[in-house]
Order: sequence, then structure tokens, then C-alpha cells
Amino acid sequence: MQKEVEYSLAIKTKYPEQVVIAIARDKNGKANPVTLGWTMIASGSPPMMAIGVAKKHYSVEAINHSKCFTIAFPSAQMAEAALFFGSKSGRDIDKFAEFDCPTEPAKEIDSVLLTDAVANFECTLETQIPTGDHFVFIGKIVRSHMNTESKQRLYTIGPNHKLGPAS
Ligand SMILES: Cc1cc2nc3c(=O)[nH]c(=O)nc-3n(C[C@H](O)[C@H](O)[C@H](O)COP(=O)(O)O)c2cc1C
Repeated sequence: MQKEVEYSLAIKTKYPEQVVIAIARDKNGKANPVTLGWTMIASGSPPMMAIGVAKKHYSVEAINHSKCFTIAFPSAQMAEAALFFGSKSGRDIDKFAEFDCPTEPAKEIDSVLLTDAVANFECTLETQIPTGDHFVFIGKIVRSHMNTESKQRLYTIGPNHKLGPAS
């Protein structure tokens, strides 16, 4: 049986929610990481992924400038980095300069990969859709990378950005 409730209450049932970190270079060449929960696989062939980014975020400018971005699946050990990248704006600071998070160059796009992530996907910007207060950016995956070590993914496991492994 179902009972009708406010959206704000029903949506709290969504956890665990996957966490990704998207990275795009701004017009000064600074790589800017942003933590996102709103993401999905958008096509299997060719492979594409979608990310939902608030219109006010600096990442919108960076993605629009470089027309490409990395999507990283952070590991469960990267909770502090995800919280830092998800609470500071690239408009104010250089997040990679202020938080130690090893990176390596992407192979095909002008971006970086997160060395300790479970996986990294290099995306070229395919489409951008305005949706209320967000833009959905759809990226075509041109290269994929996996950690050589087995690691658990990071999820949001409860409200107020409570992060951890899914189980
Ligand atoms: C766990 C977590 C999930 C988040 N999910 C999203 C999201 O899906 N979309 C979004 O626009 N912001 C999301 N945020 C907030 C942004 O990461 C945050 O506002 C960030 O500071 C924006 O950075 P920027 O201004 O450099 O783009 C999330 C933050 C956290 C900690």
C-alpha cells in the first residue's frame, strides 16, 4: 500500500546513492573537481554518462569551456576528498592545490584522472540539457580506466552527506 507524501520526504528513501567526482579544466587551465550524486549511464553503445550540475556551480563554466570532463568513481577511502571537492567552489580556490589527492593525466582529453579512484572515464561533451536549476551534461566516453587494486566504491548512505561504502 502507498500513501501520498511530500516529494521532500519520499526522496529521502533514495540512499545509498552513488558518488562521482567530475573534473573539467577552466579557462586558466585549472582542473576543477566537483562531487556529484546525480549521475547515470545514458547510453550503452556508444557508451555515455550523464551528470546533473547546479547552474550556479563553477563546474558549469569549466565544462562549457573545455567541452570535456573526467568522471571518476571515488573509492570508499576518498570520503574526505569527496566532501572537500563537494563543499568548496573552484570559483574561490584551486581544490587540487588545497587538498592532497593524487592525479595523473588523462590519455585523450585535456583533464586528469584520480589515481586512487575505483575507475575513471574520459568524456567528451555530447549534449547539455537545462533542467530547472541544473544542467544535465551528457558525455561520450572515449577512454576508460580501472584501479589495479580492488577497491570499494563510495556512496552517500544517508542525509547530510553521510558517506561510506554501500554495505
Ligand atoms: C556527496 C555530495 C553529492 C553532491 N551532489 C551534487 C550533485 O549531484 N549536483 C550538484 O550540482 N552538486 C552536488 N553537490 C554539491 C557540489 O559538489 C558543491 O556545491 C561544489 O562545491 C560545487 O563546486 P564548483 O563550484 O567548483 O563547481 C554534492 C556534494 C556532495 C558532498
